[in-house]
Amino acid sequence: MTNSETKATLSFSDGSASLEMPIYKGSVGPDVIDIRKLYGATGMFTYDPGFMSTAACNSSITYIDGDKGELLYRGYPIEQLAVNGGDFLETCYLLLNGELPNATQKTEFVDTVTKHTMVHEQMQFFFRGFRRDAHPMSVLVGTVGALASFYHDSLDINDPHHREVSAIRLIAKMPTLVAMAYKYSIGQPFVYPRNDLSYSANFMHMMFSTPCEPYKVNEVLVRALDRILILHADHEQNASTSTVRLAGSSGANPFACIAAGIACLWGPAHGGANEAALSMLEEIGSVDNIPEFIAQVKDKNSGVKLMGFGHRVYKNYDPRAKLMRETCYEVLNELGLQDDPLFKLAMALEKIALEDEYFVSRKLYPNVDFYSGIVQRALGIPTSLFTGIFALARTVGWIAQWKEMISDPEQKIGRPRQLFVGSPKRDVPPIDQRG
Ligand code: ACO
Repeated sequence: MTNSETKATLSFSDGSASLEMPIYKGSVGPDVIDIRKLYGATGMFTYDPGFMSTAACNSSITYIDGDKGELLYRGYPIEQLAVNGGDFLETCYLLLNGELPNATQKTEFVDTVTKHTMVHEQMQFFFRGFRRDAHPMSVLVGTVGALASFYHDSLDINDPHHREVSAIRLIAKMPTLVAMAYKYSIGQPFVYPRNDLSYSANFMHMMFSTPCEPYKVNEVLVRALDRILILHADHEQNASTSTVRLAGSSGANPFACIAAGIACLWGPAHGGANEAALSMLEEIGSVDNIPEFIAQVKDKNSGVKLMGFGHRVYKNYDPRAKLMRETCYEVLNELGLQDDPLFKLAMALEKIALEDEYFVSRKLYPNVDFYSGIVQRALGIPTSLFTGIFALARTVGWIAQWKEMISDPEQKIGRPRQLFVGSPKRDVPPIDQRG
């Protein structure tokens, strides 16, 4: 971050105050105006619901150029990481440490993560307390938060070693917890991790092995899962990441912070969109029903949205969507599902939406969730677990952002202010005088 020679001056038309504010330049992307002295100098706050014009922190992890449709992790384009960047654990190392690992660092990192894949045996009792039909995201909010009760030796957020150990534990144990949530929901026994398998293959094993039949690793499907994880690993200061940072700003432990991130991710406008996109496709049912559905989407009173379309930041094709579309073809070919009716429906819907004036004029393009649901369904992952897979992938991004925040000397407890529009001070009337 460097100071710009240019300054911003705020002056009021009635001449009551004027304030000069510094402007900072990042390495790429928009500059920012430092408004921290605004309240002291003018007695006013800024008003920015939804943070449309607010940079809440400085960060060197992920950069998005929404107009170009560009996504960089630590400077590397997502397309290169997904195609040439090795597996998901390499991306994890990159996000956490700032550089890609060399061969020795990679071996050590994989070894460390792998040694933490098991969860405390007592964790199973938390699962057993849930109804079998509980939503996996509710189970994950509870069980990830509960990890803090088991790992007291890594809760001192002021100790860099504790922060590192918590980060590794979260990355290593999330697949185990997500798979346990699934196994519990279908009444099958929990499957212990296998440390001879890769991160993604082990997850498939914990999801699909049973005591009677082991999961046979299919490299195409494992690669597809790995790509889903890489594409979802981080995404700058989105709602769930900002939630993790805000929770962490109070000094809360990392397990509690990630549980808060999972809660935020659950919403249909964020991580819940892949589940919602697939349900939408199922509801539309056939290509013939697309025009009627599109008419509903355009009708503002209907409340219907084209799920898997649109993004707060990307006003161009989501680069992750292109990669996920490719993976979709690969997986469906591998499984002989080229004629999958839902995929055909998705393709027809995408074509119509990309040509329709409503979507074109609003720069609404498919986002990654439009395709990730179809891929996950083909992998055998049930719809209700889609957002859980997203949480599993995003854990590394959350924890990297949390670690960055804790080490930032400018870090303060997050405390937004408000424009108060309620009643000014008044006296409590006796009950018989109330309307
Ligand atoms: N379908 C129909 N219309 C839409 C959609 C959509 N999916 N998304 C936005 N619009 C319209 C809005 O109605 C609005 O129209 P108007 O200008 O006529 O009022 C215009 O496009 C701008 O939309 P905003 O709501 O201002 O865009 P915002 O940036 O706030 O919303 C969001 C982004 C929440 C992602 C939205 O596009 C949406 O709800 N999409 C569907 C859900 C989804 O796919 N979410 C996944 C996000 S990606 C992720 O989390 C990995």
